[in-house]
Amino acid sequence: MVHSTTALTLFTAAALLSSTGVTAHLPGRDGLAARHAHVPAHKKAASAVADAARSLIPDLEKIRRGADDILARSSVASGSKQKTKRRVKKRKNTCVPQVGFNVTNPTSPGSSSSAWATSTATATATATQSDSQSKIGNEHIATGSATSTAWSSASSAAQSSSVPNQQYNSLWNLEETWSGNSFFDHWDFWNHNDPTHGVVNYVDAGTAWNEGLVSINDKGNAIMKVDTTQWISGNRKSVRLHGKLVFTGGLVLMDAVHMPVGCATWPAWWQNGPNWPIGGEIDILEGVNNFKINQVSVHTDNGCTMPDNQKHTGYLTTGNFDNRNCASYATSNQGCGVRDADQTAYGDGFNNIGGGVYAMKWDKYGINVWWFNRNNIPADITAEQPMPDQWGLPMANFPSTQCDPYKYFYDNINIFTSTLCGDWAGGIWNYADAGETETCAQKTGYASCEDYVRNNGDKFQNAYWEVAYVKYFNSTTEL
Ligand SMILES: *[C@@H]1O[C@H](CO)[C@@H](O)[C@H](O)[C@H]1NC(C)=O
Ligand SMILES: *[C@@H]1O[C@H](CO)[C@@H](O)[C@H](O)[C@H]1NC(C)=O
Repeated sequence: MVHSTTALTLFTAAALLSSTGVTAHLPGRDGLAARHAHVPAHKKAASAVADAARSLIPDLEKIRRGADDILARSSVASGSKQKTKRRVKKRKNTCVPQVGFNVTNPTSPGSSSSAWATSTATATATATQSDSQSKIGNEHIATGSATSTAWSSASSAAQSSSVPNQQYNSLWNLEETWSGNSFFDHWDFWNHNDPTHGVVNYVDAGTAWNEGLVSINDKGNAIMKVDTTQWISGNRKSVRLHGKLVFTGGLVLMDAVHMPVGCATWPAWWQNGPNWPIGGEIDILEGVNNFKINQVSVHTDNGCTMPDNQKHTGYLTTGNFDNRNCASYATSNQGCGVRDADQTAYGDGFNNIGGGVYAMKWDKYGINVWWFNRNNIPADITAEQPMPDQWGLPMANFPSTQCDPYKYFYDNINIFTSTLCGDWAGGIWNYADAGETETCAQKTGYASCEDYVRNNGDKFQNAYWEVAYVKYFNSTTEL
């Protein structure tokens, strides 16, 4: 039960830090020295406590993010089984109705969404690696070396209207398409407190529609944005969507034209299982503030590790823990993170080229993530007959060799989040990372992420998602 003890210790330390009042400015690990310049003398004592605690738990911001889960787990710390109690009632429908491959109007399973509340106090690895650091190992392979026979250079966001006739020998069958006017029918609006401690109020569907936080634009794309009222005193309204489909294995494509950008933003497109981290978490598109690159991460129960021959174009993040151990508890929730070298894959670079398609393939070979910018979307994707074998090296590869993809990952749902500040974006407000040339404190002139959010609604005009589709494919041979 080492992990339970550790978790409790960490939680205690986090609570201690919280009471010192210095946590609002927690930088990334590497920014600790810089922070001292900003700490007033009367806070030095508290800061010393904080630093001592930080030396034990360098990933404090992530611990805080997982605090809800740790509380939930603490109730079983003395138990003999590693069974985690849910704090809310069990999902009514853990059994996903079978969807036939030739069904023309697939129906979404009617799982309840609110029961996911406990499994989402999670989020993402914040393993830091400055761009100047050398790439780790020999996995870094130029994207251009990946060969493919079926690239399309003429894809548009509205692809369904221009599906080529060409036939591919795809092993994947399209089960669900979430797009256009029915896009939002496939999601539950999750309106609970942000487990990652952002200054947002996630609103229900009625509020989101009434206040224009979600809409379908004239291109048929789904818009999800944050409230841009100039001055607010509490939290900014935002939207968090949980997909209704529960799946184990599959190929998921997501085409987005625009993603939230700017200081204080923390957008993510990801997926999560029940009883976090038991059912696994896969972060596919995620970052904070003015990051220029994407970070893919997996977080698991104890036992899932990565071999040293991951075959991908990204590079492993580094941290204070073994970066090939994906276990959340054992690594202070660092998990296994892979960062992209392609600056079209996130943030302004993403938006400047009209985004593109993210592909997440989860099958018996493991978990792989590809990124295709708008100018490089394979024709087989556009044709809805995906041929992953021809896509070249993925950006992130988590092979099955030391991590059973069905033991450590199951019953996942798809999630869009768009929070502001919180453990990661707020936590590194004073720290430039992932290609940023200045900190958000420098860029905005605000010492506090929260103050910036509350006084500058107009700065969040670009904090929106524009999504063309999410498509789920299944396979009879690959899972
Ligand atoms: C995908 O296919 C597998 C194997 O046929 C099946 O068990 C599973 O229910 C399918 N999942 C969905 C979401 O259709
Ligand atoms: C769909 O149905 C047709 C006609 O019954 C069949 O030939 C085809 O193989 C089916 N496709 C799949 C993916 O099962």
